[in-house]
Order: sequence, then structure tokens, then C-alpha cells
Amino acid sequence: MKTTKLLALTLALVAVRAEARTFEEIKKDGKIIVASEGAFPPFNFFRGPTLTGFEIDVAEALAKKMGVGIEWRALSFDALLAGLRQDRWDMVIASFGITEERAKAVTFTNPHYCSGGVIVAKDPAIRTVKDLAGKIVAVQTGTTYLEHVQKVPGVKEVKNFPKDTDARAALVAGRVDAWVSDRFVAKAALESNPAAGLKMGDFVFVERIASAVKKGNTSLEKAIDKALAEIMADGTYEAISKKYMNEDVRCR
Ligand code: ARG
Repeated sequence: MKTTKLLALTLALVAVRAEARTFEEIKKDGKIIVASEGAFPPFNFFRGPTLTGFEIDVAEALAKKMGVGIEWRALSFDALLAGLRQDRWDMVIASFGITEERAKAVTFTNPHYCSGGVIVAKDPAIRTVKDLAGKIVAVQTGTTYLEHVQKVPGVKEVKNFPKDTDARAALVAGRVDAWVSDRFVAKAALESNPAAGLKMGDFVFVERIASAVKKGNTSLEKAIDKALAEIMADGTYEAISKKYMNEDVRCR
């Protein structure tokens, strides 16, 4: 293709994708593009080739209420919010905690669960935040776990991993002293691999977890919030939550 033609085509594509799609436009199209990670069980993970988990089912239930289908995208955690800015997808659901910093870049919907970061270690003497002093702690890059562990006084080293499952693996292999991750992720890890001898300690912090849309995409934010209220009221949410976690994890 000639360079001028290629340039014209590129400009046309950029022009089409310059604005976030409103809910009306998504509805007309019939499909919402939702991005997640797929490496954070029980919230979003792969079972064979299939993206599944609590958040995947919740998003499917939301889409059903909204009268649209979902076109899924699975990407690394650190690419998810940036892609919203570039209109590469309409919505992100990947256990993002609502933080002031993130809220500057994207618009959060109402939270779909409440949880927090907990300490996991093999050594039963590592349970409290104070016990992290002098220790090597594994966390996933770009997470609120990293942010909070960095503030704990006296931690020897914070080791970053692109995937939370790799941070967990480092602990299982004995390459770090502790792993800080979501309480329900930790619970699932302990249950799925009892032989690893992992023990869950205290919360480091608590947070509200929500999906996100492009900054200022109010029509989509409102549509998601309405659908979320509906699935929380009609038992759909509770059933999904109990399926993956044996309890209702909504914020109270
Ligand atoms: N809740 C944490 C945060 O907000 C971790 C999210 C990790 N999500 C994931 N899909 N790996 O940063």
C-alpha cells in the first residue's frame, strides 16, 4: 500500500475511535467490549481456553440486564486502564480498587465487591504488618498491594511480579518471605494447594473494588450502575458470589 493511502486509512481509523462509545452507541452495536486480565482467581482467570470467574459472570449478568452481548479481551493487568483511555475497549473489570490516583484517569462505577490486601506467608510468625519488617514481600506490579506494602516501615525488599500468580509462586518456592494479595485470592490459593503450607495473616488495608469506564463516559457508567443494582436486588449477584466464594462479597 502507498504511504499516503496508509496514512489516510490510519487517520480515518483514529477519527472513528477518537471518542468513547456512549451506552446508546454500544446498544446499537449490540456488543460491549470488556477487558480483564485472566490471572486473578477466583475473580478472573482461565479454565483451559475459557475466561471465567466471579467478575466474568458478574459482567455477563450486567450485560444481560443492559441488553447487550460481551466481546471479551484478556490483557496484562498493567495494560487495562491505559486501553480505556485509548478507546480500545468500553469497560474494564479486573479487581481494580477505587483509588484517588486511578479516579483521575478513569471513571469508576459503583463497587461490585469489598475486600482488602492480606499477608500470606509460610512462617506462622509472619502474620501482622509489623512482622513484615526485615522481610522480602512479593506483590503484583501496579496494584494497591504494592502501594501499601511500600509504605510499611522496615520492609527489606518489595519484589514486583507482572502477575499475582507469579508473586504467589515465589512464596510457594520460598524465594520471598510473604505475599500480599486479595483476601479471597489468598483464600482460594490456600484451599487449592494445602500442601504448600501457606497461612493467611492480617489485612494490610481494605478497599472497594469496581469496574471502570473511560473518564467521563457518564452514560455507560450510569447503565452499569443501574444493571449492578438490579442484579444485586434480584439474587443474581448473590448466586454468582456464592458460586465462587461461598459467601456474598458485596460492600456493606
Ligand atoms: N485490588 C488490587 C488493585 O486494585 C489488585 C487487582 C489485581 N487484579 C488483577 N486482575 N490481577 O490493585
